[in-house]
Amino acid sequence: MTVQIATNIVWHGGNVSKKDREELLRQKGVALWFTGLSGSGKSTLAGEIEKRLFAGGHLSYVLDGDNIRFGLNKNLGFSPEDRAENIRRIGEVAKLFADAGIITLTAFISPYRADRDTARGLLKEGEFIEVFVKCPVLECEKRDTKGLYKKARAGEIKEFTGISAPYEEPVSPELVVDTARLTLDEAADLVIRYLADRGITRQ
Ligand code: ADX
Repeated sequence: MTVQIATNIVWHGGNVSKKDREELLRQKGVALWFTGLSGSGKSTLAGEIEKRLFAGGHLSYVLDGDNIRFGLNKNLGFSPEDRAENIRRIGEVAKLFADAGIITLTAFISPYRADRDTARGLLKEGEFIEVFVKCPVLECEKRDTKGLYKKARAGEIKEFTGISAPYEEPVSPELVVDTARLTLDEAADLVIRYLADRGITRQ
């Protein structure tokens, strides 16, 4: 729980509502929260979905773990405390983006259930869509797209998720996408259909 330090602050409401923005964009502002091991395909899938949504006239934006760690979260490492702060900040950013009416795609390992649940708690019912990007660690290690598993096995990276740090699988995610079995197209289809079925995207 992060303590509120500032006092004497007063919430200021705007003149345009979330609903107004959603009408303008013909979509609902939500957070699609991708969680899974490094190399499971979170960023690739989020990127594919962003591309498809854009082609269909919908505004989305990808917040990617590696990328955000170059800027907003450059002062955070991979200890449990730093990962919690990483996810807390991204939960708040996703809340702002969703309020802006944007279909927000977050691609962070987010290995701890409690941290993901904190992020869920920031958004309204139905606005936080947890997508478990499921892929066995052995398959992620086989892919080793960034060469990090090799380094982790050699002890060159400490606290590496799946090797020397835990990954807590989601208990009841809104969606499970098994990237060891599905093609990228099939995986993206699942998510795109979910959004359309729930009226998150409209024509
Ligand atoms: S999270 O656990 O705090 O959610 P985040 O998604 O931001 O992680 O960053 C994960 C990315 O950082 C990985 O995909 C990988 O490229 C890189 N990385 C570097 N060190 C580690 C580590 N110790 N554990 C996991 N990922 C790491």
